[in-house]
Amino acid sequence: MSTIIDGKKIAQEIKDEVKTEVLKLNDQNLFPALAVIIVGDDAASKIYVRDKKRACENTGIKSVSYELPADTTENELLHLVSRLNADYKIHGILVQLPLPQHINEDNILLAIDPKKDVDCFHPYNVGLLSVGKPQFLPGTPAGVIQLLKRSGISIAGKNCVVVGRSNIVGKPMSALLLAENGTVTTCHSKTRNLGEVTKKAEILVVAIRMPKFITADMVGEGAVVIDVGIHKIAGTKNKLCGDVDFDGVYEKTSYITPVPGGVGPMTIAMLMQNCLKAAKL
Ligand code: GUN
Repeated sequence: MSTIIDGKKIAQEIKDEVKTEVLKLNDQNLFPALAVIIVGDDAASKIYVRDKKRACENTGIKSVSYELPADTTENELLHLVSRLNADYKIHGILVQLPLPQHINEDNILLAIDPKKDVDCFHPYNVGLLSVGKPQFLPGTPAGVIQLLKRSGISIAGKNCVVVGRSNIVGKPMSALLLAENGTVTTCHSKTRNLGEVTKKAEILVVAIRMPKFITADMVGEGAVVIDVGIHKIAGTKNKLCGDVDFDGVYEKTSYITPVPGGVGPMTIAMLMQNCLKAAKL
């Protein structure tokens, strides 16, 4: 029997903790505030931004939205970021990705004051993370660590396999597991005999952006499987699946995250933690 890790419940615990801390700051006349910028009409981005603003409301963090048209220029966006950097009432700045093609994402992320970089995407913060002295933790990978810890799963010494090497999830995920003393292998599209590597994992984190990519034959008996992917199932209206074939894999695992309701809610809870930290900074 596997245990299904309830990400919604754990995320709520974390948001409740943040709310308590926010109230303490309010008593000292400090009101944490997050600026959220979205450019264009990407449907998924709009939903993510809506959920982030909702989480702010739930935790007592003020959110200020900037919904800019798709033809906003890079310079206009840089000006807005610069204005928010200088605004002492704004503690965190989040620019929702992806940005329209004509805007260079790297230029925008570099322009955000690292002390307000609640996504932990700025190279300065990525560097701090890689030398083991982070000021912020990246939302999704830090959320995975919390799911493991709060489910009583130890990481130290375990064989951890991360499938995916994106800057947002895979790379920082490997860094955080290593910081927890896991023995970490990072796999990607060029990895040979991927299934043999994943099968040896005691903790398997999958962020490869391919629906139901990990099948039962790629998972070892008793593994902990964390699924970062989220996809609409083709031919259905609203059904979702992850990067793991949940139904096929479930029986082999000791713990597994569902999609939805696993990693997803954690990303936003960790963002709230970062907003709190930014206000304290
Ligand atoms: N797009 C997809 N995930 C994220 C995220 O965590 N932060 C931002 N800013 N954009 C995203």
